[in-house]
Amino acid sequence: MTDKYAVIGNPIEHSRSPEIHARFAAQTHQQMQYDRLLAPLDGFLDAVQQFMRNGGKGLNVTVPFKLEAYANATRLTPRAKAAGAVNTLKFDNGEMLGDNTDGVGLVTDIVHNAAVAVAGKSVLLLGAGGAARGVLLPLLDEQPARLVVANRTPSKAVELVHRFDNNPRLEAGNFGDLDDAFDIVINATAASLSSEVPPVSPRVFGKHTLAYDMMYGSEPTAFMRFAAQHGAITRDGLGMLVEQAAESFTLWRGVRPSTKDVFAELRARM
Ligand code: ATR
Repeated sequence: MTDKYAVIGNPIEHSRSPEIHARFAAQTHQQMQYDRLLAPLDGFLDAVQQFMRNGGKGLNVTVPFKLEAYANATRLTPRAKAAGAVNTLKFDNGEMLGDNTDGVGLVTDIVHNAAVAVAGKSVLLLGAGGAARGVLLPLLDEQPARLVVANRTPSKAVELVHRFDNNPRLEAGNFGDLDDAFDIVINATAASLSSEVPPVSPRVFGKHTLAYDMMYGSEPTAFMRFAAQHGAITRDGLGMLVEQAAESFTLWRGVRPSTKDVFAELRARM
């Protein structure tokens, strides 16, 4: 019987994950099926259990179920614990392993695909919601010289930094106080969804700054346009999407797909 996987969310029809995983499966000669699974807003666990009963081997989890997946996993990876959210479930002998591949997807896209080292660099992370928390541990694991978390509501940045206490590289900052250039500025706010730019000083961008937006689309986001106007090199989150998928695929199938061509095809079709 073909192993079954899916991406579960609500809404779900916009998800690019099925096309990404179909390409990974073809490339690595894995016999598997990967579908979209729409769960009712109050029916996440039922939908997961039914999927397991029907022989499902794993799920990607997207909005709004990442916290419920975290709460219901029977075992969590350290990076899922740090993220406080699960985007990947693996089912094995009744166990529901919860992982989070978003942060490693971001880091792989920056370090390997954009060829920008994080080690020893100054990094500014904008936002303190789930998206920011999801990537903090993998970013810290790269040993940046300094990682500043800044948020529109400053107390949330302070709270988030407190969760990772004793890490001398990590600090909370205020948008208003930031006026030095960083090597890497990552937008993990939801501002791009409404075509807004987080209220950050243009002085955080220098000539060599990589300005990374975790959102992606057919056009550069407002944040990317703002950063480019002030001299930064910009990149959107399409590579992060493909890399987090590759990490999930590797967890499930034990074989790592190549992401380069899949990324190029997706980009060309946007
Ligand atoms: P997500 O899971 O996408 O991170 P979230 O937990 O609702 O969603 O967090 C949204 C983040 O985007 C928050 O950091 C939010 O800032 P506040 O904590 O001050 O609300 C940030 N955000 C949303 N819209 C923004 C905007 N227009 N400018 C700056 N920050 C914004």
